[in-house]
Amino acid sequence: MAETRDTWGTKIGLILAMAGNAVGLGNFWRFPYQAASNGGGSFMIPYFFALFLLGIPLMLVEWTQGRTGGKYGHGTVAPMLYLHAREAVSPSAAAIIGALGGMFAFSVMALLTSYYSQIIGWTLGYSYLSLTGAYMDKAVNTGQFFVNYIQNPVYVFVFWGIALVLMAYTVSGGVQGGIEKWASVMMPILYVFGVILAIRAITLGAPVKPEWSAIKGLDYLWEPRWADLTWKSALAAAGQIFFTLSVGMGIIQNYASYLKPDDDIVLSGLATVSLNEFAEVILGGSIAIPIAYAYLGPKGVGAGVGLSFISLPNVFRDLPGGQLWGAMWFFLLFIAGFTSAIAMFNYLAAMLEEDAGINRRVGAYVAALTFFIIGLPVALEPILTKTADLAYLTELDNWVGSYFLVVLGLIEVLVTATMWGHGAWEEMNRGAYVKVPKWYFDIFMRWITPIYIAVILFFSTLDYAKGGYFSFNPDTLVKYLGVDPKLGPWVLTARIVIIVVLVIGFFVSYKSIKRSYGEEIAQGKVLIRR
Ligand code: ALA
Repeated sequence: MAETRDTWGTKIGLILAMAGNAVGLGNFWRFPYQAASNGGGSFMIPYFFALFLLGIPLMLVEWTQGRTGGKYGHGTVAPMLYLHAREAVSPSAAAIIGALGGMFAFSVMALLTSYYSQIIGWTLGYSYLSLTGAYMDKAVNTGQFFVNYIQNPVYVFVFWGIALVLMAYTVSGGVQGGIEKWASVMMPILYVFGVILAIRAITLGAPVKPEWSAIKGLDYLWEPRWADLTWKSALAAAGQIFFTLSVGMGIIQNYASYLKPDDDIVLSGLATVSLNEFAEVILGGSIAIPIAYAYLGPKGVGAGVGLSFISLPNVFRDLPGGQLWGAMWFFLLFIAGFTSAIAMFNYLAAMLEEDAGINRRVGAYVAALTFFIIGLPVALEPILTKTADLAYLTELDNWVGSYFLVVLGLIEVLVTATMWGHGAWEEMNRGAYVKVPKWYFDIFMRWITPIYIAVILFFSTLDYAKGGYFSFNPDTLVKYLGVDPKLGPWVLTARIVIIVVLVIGFFVSYKSIKRSYGEEIAQGKVLIRR
C-alpha cells in the first residue's frame, strides 16, 4: 500500500491545501460570533494563550503522527496512534489507545461533516440569493428570511446537494490531482476576497450613528479587558482554537500522511498555523464585527450564530453595491468551508480505500452519500417542525465541534509527546528546516499542553453535566437547552446517533489496527518497522 500512496506535488500546493483544511467556516463564521458573544477583548486573551499552549503543539504533534502513518500506508488516526503508542506500551494496549482515538476522529469526521456541509450549502445558496437580490426587500426582515430559507426544502437540498457533489468530485481526483489543484486556485481567491472585504469594512466610517463606527468594532475586539475575563470565555477560546486549526479532528494527520518520510513538518506546520491565524484574527476579525458594529451597534455584534446569515444581510441592504458585497462575503464563506470539508471527505475516502478496498473515485461519492444520510435530520428538522432552533445541529455541534476535539487532542498529545517522549521529538525534527527545541518539547509539549487540555476538559465536563448534556430524558433536555418542547425528540435522537457513531467508530478503528498489526498484537512484540 505504501508505495502506491498519493503524495503532494509541490511544497506550496501542500501548504495551500493544509491552510485550506484549517481555514474554514470556523474563521469567518464561528470566530466573529464566538469572540463577540464572549466579550471581544476579554476573549482574545485566553485565545492567544490557547493558540500558543494548545494549538501550535497539537499542530506539530498531528503532522508528526500523519507523516509516520503515511510511511506505513495509513491515512487515518487509529493506526497512526497505534504506531506511536507501541513505542511506549505493549501492542495490545497501544491497539486500545489507537481504537479510542480513532473512534473520536471517526465520529468527528462523520458527524461534523453532516452539518458542516449543510452550512456550506447555505453559503452557496446565500451567494446566489445575494446576486439575485432576494433578501434586499425590507418588507421581510433578514431573520425571517433565514428562517424561510432553512424551512424551504428546495433551497436546502439543492444547494447542499451541489456542495456535496462538488466536494466528492474534487476528492475523487486524488490528493495531488484533486485536493491540491483546487486548493491552489481557491485559497488565493479566498485571501484576495478577504482582504477586499476587510478594507471595505474598516473604511466604512460611522454611517448610522457617530458612536457606532467600524473602528469602534475593532476596538471591541482588540482592547484587552482583563477584568471581564471569565472561565466561560477561556473555555470558548480553547474550543475555538481546536476548531479553527482543525486539530483534534484527524484531518491534519490525514493530509500529513501524504508527505514523504523526510519532508519538513515543523516549518510547514507553523506556516499552516500562521496562514490560518492571519485569516482568522486579521481578516475574520476585520469583516463581520466592524461591519455589524458600524451599522447595527454593539447589539448587532452580539447577535451570536446569526451574525453572518442575519445581521450582515441586514447591512448589505443599506451598503452601496450591497448585492455584490453580499455575494463576495458568502462566496468567501463557501470557499473557506469547501476547502475544509474536502479534508473530511478525504478522511472517509482514505478509510474506505485502506480498510475496505474501495477505490477512491467511488469512495469519494460514497462519502458524500454517507454525509447526506447522517445529515438528513439536520435538514429535515426545520422543514418538518416549522421551527428554527436547529436543535439537532446544535446538539451535534455541542458534542462534536466543542468536546470530542478536546478529548482527541488530549489522547494525541499524551501518546506522542508524553508517552513516547524523545523518540517523538527526534521524529518531529527529521527533515525539519527549523528544529523544535528540546526544552520546548519537554516542558510544553509533554506537560503543559496535556495538563492545560485536561483542565479544560474537566471544567467543560462539569459545565456539560450542569447543563443537562448527559441526560436522556426529553423533558430535561427541553428544560435545560431552552428549545421548543416539540424538539425534545430531535435532541434525543442526536444523542443516540452520536452514541451509535462512537460505537461504530471504535469497532472500525480496532479492526483497522488489527488488520495491519494483528500478528504483533498477538505476539506482544513489535514486528513491523519501516
Ligand atoms: N478548521 C475548520 C474550520 O475552521 C474546520 O472551519
